[in-house]
Amino acid sequence: MRLKLEEAEKRGTVSLEETIEKRKSRRSFKRTKLTKKQLSQLIWSAVKAPSAGATYPLELYAVIGEECVDDIDAGVYRRSGRGYSELEMHKKGDLRDELAIACLSQTFIADAPVSFVIAAEYERTTRRYGGRGVGYVYIEVGHAGQNIYLQCEALGLATVAIGAFYDDEVAKVLSLPKEHKPIYVMPVGVGV
Ligand SMILES: Cc1cc2nc3c(=O)[nH]c(=O)nc-3n(C[C@H](O)[C@H](O)[C@H](O)COP(=O)(O)O)c2cc1C
Repeated sequence: MRLKLEEAEKRGTVSLEETIEKRKSRRSFKRTKLTKKQLSQLIWSAVKAPSAGATYPLELYAVIGEECVDDIDAGVYRRSGRGYSELEMHKKGDLRDELAIACLSQTFIADAPVSFVIAAEYERTTRRYGGRGVGYVYIEVGHAGQNIYLQCEALGLATVAIGAFYDDEVAKVLSLPKEHKPIYVMPVGVGV
């Protein structure tokens, strides 16, 4: 099942400098739904990151809870295609509790309506750059993660970058293809 995302806004209401200044990791989330527009904006921001040699190794997944985003069923969704205009249902069900457990039981993750999981297919970059490409992939995940942090700040939403998790467990919860290795988890929601 494919879902059409909404057009991203290219003009915000706060300055870049303000978002950089105010950005911080926020780990408390209200049980408030996100709108499809907010979800679309966040996906756009993550995808608009630089990529070494335009090799695009990153794969963005969204773990969405039940009644957590307007008009979107609970499940794991994968950003499909080259752009940021579509999501594809990858797995059904509300998997937020399982995801939180896989992240060393950082339970606040289960409170967030949406968690992004940034995974990478290293081979897309290492086939061109060899071992150095591994570092490039990590750098890229950092770019995408920072974009999500700043976009959250600009939208008045909360997020935190999560690097502490069992790779295999996160891959299992999301049923990731074996070449997609999870690197960052970013729960997003309205902050408390
Ligand atoms: C690579 C990386 C991994 C992180 N992993 C976690 C994590 O697993 N859990 C968590 O609560 N915060 C995690 N953080 C967030 C840091 O704790 C946070 O950025 C740091 O305390 C500085 O606070 P600030 O982001 O508010 O400036 C991680 C940050 C980075 C960059």
